Amino acid sequence: MEVVSLVNGCSGNTAGKVIICKAAVAWGPGEPLVIEQVRVDPPQKMEVRVKILFTSICHTDLSAWKGENESQRAYPRIFGHEAVGIVESVGEGVTEVAAGDHVIPLFNGECGVCRCCKNPNTNSCEKLGVDPTKSTMILDGKTRFTTADERRQPIYHFLNTSTFSEFTVLDSACVVKIDSEAPIKKMTLLSCGLSTGVGAAWNTANVEAGSTVAIFGLGAVGLAVAEGARARGASKIIGVDVNPQKSIIGKQLGITDFINPRDSDKPVHEKIMEITDGGVDYSFECVGNLEVLRTAFLSTYIGYGTTIMLGIHTSPKLLPLHPMELFSGRKVVASVFGGFKGRTQLPHFAKQCMEGVVKLDEFITHELPFDKINDAFQLLMDGKSLRCLLQI
Ligand SMILES: NC(=O)c1ccc[n+]([C@@H]2O[C@H](COP(=O)([O-])OP(=O)(O)OC[C@H]3O[C@@H](n4cnc5c(N)ncnc54)[C@H](O)[C@@H]3O)[C@@H](O)[C@H]2O)c1
Ligand SMILES: *[C@@H]1O[C@H](CO)[C@@H](O)[C@H](O)[C@H]1NC(C)=O
Ligand SMILES: [Zn+2]
Ligand SMILES: [Zn+2]
Repeated sequence: MEVVSLVNGCSGNTAGKVIICKAAVAWGPGEPLVIEQVRVDPPQKMEVRVKILFTSICHTDLSAWKGENESQRAYPRIFGHEAVGIVESVGEGVTEVAAGDHVIPLFNGECGVCRCCKNPNTNSCEKLGVDPTKSTMILDGKTRFTTADERRQPIYHFLNTSTFSEFTVLDSACVVKIDSEAPIKKMTLLSCGLSTGVGAAWNTANVEAGSTVAIFGLGAVGLAVAEGARARGASKIIGVDVNPQKSIIGKQLGITDFINPRDSDKPVHEKIMEITDGGVDYSFECVGNLEVLRTAFLSTYIGYGTTIMLGIHTSPKLLPLHPMELFSGRKVVASVFGGFKGRTQLPHFAKQCMEGVVKLDEFITHELPFDKINDAFQLLMDGKSLRCLLQI
């Protein structure tokens, strides 16, 4: 097969050829990513090859990179699932996108034909729904990445997206075309964090005007919940975070009250009960911590309060609830990608974002060149960034 190297910036027609380009490869849990040359195969049947323009780092990349869950370890691997790019070429049978289209990768795909895709009450997809344990293409169980050296070692995929690369190959169910007029850089946020948070408030909770909300964990996901709740007219949006800096950014993004659990010995749920005269209508867990999930549960109004779980739990522990506690009328539900069906609903959400329904700019706290990806990981680990955009 013909090979084109993009290492020296040469381009031309690359369709149907192997592309050699830069990627950030993870060689082991917690090891710094290595920017190196990789081979990216052409897209096969119903696949799309995308040139990534911008990517950012979500806490899910951080957990996976650290290897927090043993069943998800596969190395070498290319992480990354929050990005925006341009279609370079498409494989056989792909009609919905074409070379040159601006696209957002979807870690939670939408095949459009399975029973779940046809059901309006879920954004699960039986074929290409998110599964962090998977690391090869669904078509043939192989990778489209290999090392550029003589060994041609397979490099595993992540969440069907693997965006920490100049080029990546995705199933066509895992890309959505966006308006070419949309501000492309900001659209990166819609690929995971922003859609997940706003969608959890809009689609999963369906927050109404005047309702009260508590959000645990004020990263990009939690603050996107705040923006979603603010846009719906929630009367109180209580933010809870152990990092005091988050009260400052939080106030710009919908948070009306801030609680740092470390500031007092009084249990957080008791404080929330006080502020809201009995508990919030909706609480959101955006940390991935079972104790926090329990506090979020205890913070809702007895009789009808709903807790929405967004944080990813890597430990094999079960829910921290006694089954009878649910007889109080309180509910717990989970939200993946904010309940959005990626291919059918994201274009409209992108339009709403462009109209200013929710803020975008505040979520981009840092920008760095792709080579500095390890610094961007550090910023997220230190709680200094919401999203750091990497230009590839
Ligand atoms: N459900 C989904 O579809 C989906 C999508 C994206 C991310 N996630 C998950 O959502 C979570 C948040 O992601 P993010 O990118 O916003 O992460 P982040 O690291 O930017 O934010 C996490 C926040 O939680 C705070 N925190 C940590 N421990 C806390 C505690 N005990 N009490 C209160 N706050 C605490 C941190 O200070 C930080 O501000 C992660 O678990 C991530 O894997 C889920
Ligand atoms: C994509 O997701 C599907 C469903 O979880 C999985 O079977 C497949 O292996 C994934 N592919 C990649 C490249 O991650
Ligand atoms: Zn994510
Ligand atoms: Zn489907």
